[in-house]
Amino acid sequence: MVFTEEIILNLFCADCEGDPGNSFLRAVFSEPLRKEDVPKRILRPAIVRRSPCIQVESFKNTQSFHDNLPLAEAEQLRGCLSEFLSAYRQLLLIFPGKSFHIRKTRGGFTGKIVENKEKPTEISHDRRKSYVLSEGEPVPFLVSLGIMNGEGRVYKEKRDKFRQINKYLEFMDGTIRELHKKKQIDNFIRCVDFGCGKSYLTFALEHYLRETARLDYEILGLDLKEDVIGDCNALAEKLAIGNLRFLNGDIRDYTETAEADLVFSLHACDNATDYAIAKALSLRAKAILLVPCCQHEFYQKTRDGKKTPLREYLAPLATDGVLLEKLSSLATDGFRAHALRLCGYHVDVMEFIDMEHTPKNILIRAVRGEIPAEKLRAVREQYEAYKTFLGISPLLEQLIGNYYLA
Ligand SMILES: C[S@@+](CC[C@H](N)C(=O)[O-])C[C@H]1O[C@@H](n2cnc3c(N)ncnc32)[C@H](O)[C@@H]1O
Repeated sequence: MVFTEEIILNLFCADCEGDPGNSFLRAVFSEPLRKEDVPKRILRPAIVRRSPCIQVESFKNTQSFHDNLPLAEAEQLRGCLSEFLSAYRQLLLIFPGKSFHIRKTRGGFTGKIVENKEKPTEISHDRRKSYVLSEGEPVPFLVSLGIMNGEGRVYKEKRDKFRQINKYLEFMDGTIRELHKKKQIDNFIRCVDFGCGKSYLTFALEHYLRETARLDYEILGLDLKEDVIGDCNALAEKLAIGNLRFLNGDIRDYTETAEADLVFSLHACDNATDYAIAKALSLRAKAILLVPCCQHEFYQKTRDGKKTPLREYLAPLATDGVLLEKLSSLATDGFRAHALRLCGYHVDVMEFIDMEHTPKNILIRAVRGEIPAEKLRAVREQYEAYKTFLGISPLLEQLIGNYYLA
């Protein structure tokens, strides 16, 4: 069977926008004619930022890159597809029920149509994915922070950071949706980032709220480091972002706003996380997200404690410093989770990102809610027993004990 370029291009564009049953499911270009071309490209129809596109995934070594070709830009799209047709020897174009196996020949294209068992699928929508910033789409703050280049390609050494930002946005997305669903926020959200540092994640949240959630918002970032805060404000100004501000100061002294909807604190060192919790409670935060960093307090207190149940019953874990330190870290986060439950929050403790990428991988997510009195009493009992077992008096209790509901 002989194909012309025109026929093939029309196949690509058949109903990408409308009935998914008539749209191609995916197309695979392989066998590049030039050595320097990427060995394989996979194309799929997609909806990106509410616009129908063909998404191109290009593979090189173990990496893959994404580009989106909007259907609305028909000329550019056809130009690109035509380039692929001239650059690859083989094209497999899959529709529900049938596939086109096409090969480039000297005179044009030949091929055959083969039946398949593929079913129509929903054209993939980027609603859930667009907060996962995709490679190939330049995002101004990521370009300015040196994570991707102007074409949207993520630098090799910044891949972990890019993944971390995406993972964090997934958690933010879930939490903001929950607040919305529970009618704890309407169309406006005020967010505070305690210990924002270089603020990759603060800028990411701003991007997400503006581009994906489409909420009105105010974001404040706070950090002890004056120079870092200066850089963050300069970047916000350069990117013309008005509702994102950075303040220099200590979490303990924060008075900029009387309330906040969402407070987060990521990798804030040692007790800074506890100060962030205390401040979040005083701001009546509806949701609190914490990724604690190093936890020295519990380690020091359990190490120095004399004859505590912990040292007696868990002697194999409490004798060697390195084990006690790890145990103390987990014990700290368990304590924080229960303390937040006592303050009337539903708490989940999750893995933030796998260990391969950062050892600071525990995420504590707390969303304010109605907790039955009976449940609160049970949590309080466990909390007291736990404290006795550890044999310590944690700073967090001094900071937030007056918020406990049981
Ligand atoms: C490891 S950095 C994390 C930065 C950023 N949140 C992130 O995850 O990429 C911790 C930041 O917390 C800030 N910090 C620690 N204690 C603080 C405090 N009491 N008040 C304000 N910032 C604090 C430090 O200055 C530092 O920039």
